[in-house]
Amino acid sequence: MKNELIVVCGGGGFIGGHLVADLIRRGHTNVRSVDVKPLEEWFQVSEVAENVVADLKERTNCKMAVRGASEVYNLAADMGGMGFIENNKALCMLSVLINTHLLQASVEAGVERFFYASSACVYNADKQVSEDVIPLKEDDAYPAMPEDGYGWEKLFSERMCRHFREDFGLTTRVARFHNVYGPFGSWDCGREKAPAAMCRKLTHARATGNHDIEVWGDGKQTRSFMYIDDCLKGIDMIMHSDVTEPINLGSNELVTINGLVDMVAEIAGIEVTKRHKLDAPKGVNGRNSDNTKIQQYLGWEPGVRLHDGMQKTFAWIEGEYAAKQRLSVAGQST
Ligand code: NAD
Ligand code: GDD
Repeated sequence: MKNELIVVCGGGGFIGGHLVADLIRRGHTNVRSVDVKPLEEWFQVSEVAENVVADLKERTNCKMAVRGASEVYNLAADMGGMGFIENNKALCMLSVLINTHLLQASVEAGVERFFYASSACVYNADKQVSEDVIPLKEDDAYPAMPEDGYGWEKLFSERMCRHFREDFGLTTRVARFHNVYGPFGSWDCGREKAPAAMCRKLTHARATGNHDIEVWGDGKQTRSFMYIDDCLKGIDMIMHSDVTEPINLGSNELVTINGLVDMVAEIAGIEVTKRHKLDAPKGVNGRNSDNTKIQQYLGWEPGVRLHDGMQKTFAWIEGEYAAKQRLSVAGQST
C-alpha cells in the first residue's frame, strides 16, 4: 500500500538516506525519516518525506517516531568503519537503546513489519583469522565471539528482534550487512570505511601530486564490499520475505585491501606507493559472505561488480573533495 506510513530510522545516514529516496522513487507517498543529526548534516534530504530530528535512544521519541506506521526500518546506529568502532566501543553499544525502544514502541503502535540492520561484525572472530577466509554462513555467529563493542550490540539486538517476534508477535526481519559502500556516505569524518577512505586518499594524492598512500594493516586482509543498490534491493526483499532468522546481505566478490587500493588507483588514473601502517585499526584478517541462504530463500544475491560500484563512488567523492576545497579557498579569501 503506497500511502501507508513507512518510518526510516537513521534516514539522515548513508543507507537510510538512500532507502528514503528509493521508497519515494517507488511511489510511497507517506515516508517519515528520523535522525539525531541536525538536518543540514543529513547525507540526503527528501522534500517529499516528513523529516524529523530526534534522538531515538529516548523511548518517548521512539513512540513518537513509529506512531501510525505500518513498517519500521531501523538503520539508526552510532557506527562507522574500523577507525570508529575500534575506538568507540561504549558509544557503539549504546545503540542498543535505539533498537530496544523502537521494538517496544513498535509493538505498542501495532507496527506490521520491523527491519533491523545487523552486521557481519556479529560473526565469531575465530572464523575470520585467515585472509584466505571461508565465506561466513549464518550459523557461524555462534558460539558467540563477535567484534568487541559494536558486534556484541548487533548480536544482542538481533536476538531481541527474535524474542519480540516470538513473544509479542511483531514481524521482525534481520539482515547482516557486509561492508556497504556508495555515494552519499561518510568519506572524511573518521567514520568512513575502506572504500570511501581509498577514494578520498587517491583523490587527494592526484590533487597534491603526493602519491604516497597510507594503508592500515599490511593490506593483505580481505573483505567483500556491497554496492548500495544491491543493499536496497536486499532490504526490500528480506523485509517482505518469510525469512525469520538473520540472513547475510553482502557481496561475495573477495578482494584484498591492497587490491582495493590498486583498483581505485587505476580508476583515478595514477600510480601510488603504499605505506602500510601496521598499528592502525585493522579488524579481522578475512571476511566474506556465504550467499547460499539468500539464494535459497530469495533466488537472488548482490551482483554489482566492485569495479563498477567503485567508479560511481569515486566520482561522487571526487566531487565532494573539490567542493570542500572550493569552500576552504573561499574561507581563506574572506
Ligand atoms: P550511518 O552512520 O551513515 O547512518 C546511521 C545514522 O543513524 C546516522 O545518520 C546517525 O546520525 C543516526 N543515528 C545515530 N544515533 C542515533 C540516535 N540516537 N537517534 C537517531 N538517529 C541516530 O551508517 P550506515 O552505513 O547508513 O548504516 C546504517 C545501519 O546499517 C546501521 O545500523 C549500521 O550499523 C548498519 N550496517 C552498516 C554497514 C555499512 O557498511 N554501512 C555494515 C553493517 C551494518
Ligand atoms: N576505514 C579504513 N580506512 N580502513 C582501512 C584504511 C583506511 O584508510 N586503510 C586500510 N583499511 C583496512 C582496515 O584496517 C580493515 O582491515 C579494512 O580496511 C576494512 O576496514 P573498514 O572498511 O573500515 O571496516 P571493516 O570491513 O573491517 O568493517 C566494516 O564492515 C562491517 C560489516 O562488514 C565496518 O563498517 C563495520 O562497522 C561493519 O559492520
